[in-house]
Amino acid sequence: MYSKKVMDHFSHPKNMGKIENPDGVGRVGNVICGDVMHLYIKVKDDVIEDVKYETFGCVAAISSSSIITEMVKGKTIVEALKMDKSNILDSLEGLPKAKIHCSVLAIDALSESIYDYLKKNQREIPDFLEKRHKIVKNEK
Ligand code: FES
Repeated sequence: MYSKKVMDHFSHPKNMGKIENPDGVGRVGNVICGDVMHLYIKVKDDVIEDVKYETFGCVAAISSSSIITEMVKGKTIVEALKMDKSNILDSLEGLPKAKIHCSVLAIDALSESIYDYLKKNQREIPDFLEKRHKIVKNEK
């Protein structure tokens, strides 16, 4: 059912845990399956220097969290915001159809952590990120 890559990240998750005094935190959850993901970032000069996560969820959610941390470390926030679920799916060598939303959860957690970083620093928030934030938080 799962690729070797998914099982590898599930069995040996990378960057799991919490960052003390993070520059941004993304807290997201899926109301249908109940899975929850917290993603912490440390940013310097708009580059993501460190990233960790706490995920309470399924194999695909843990693997997606693990791989997204590897993918974004060292990226600028602008580069990180260009990522979408297809980047995770490619890197994980695919996910079963019913588990694609787990990769979306990881992207949402990343977007929310960057949103939080920009907000805390009183920086301008791009329109697309504001819209995404409202959708994630179910605001109208
Ligand atoms: Fe919902 Fe994996 S089953 S995030």
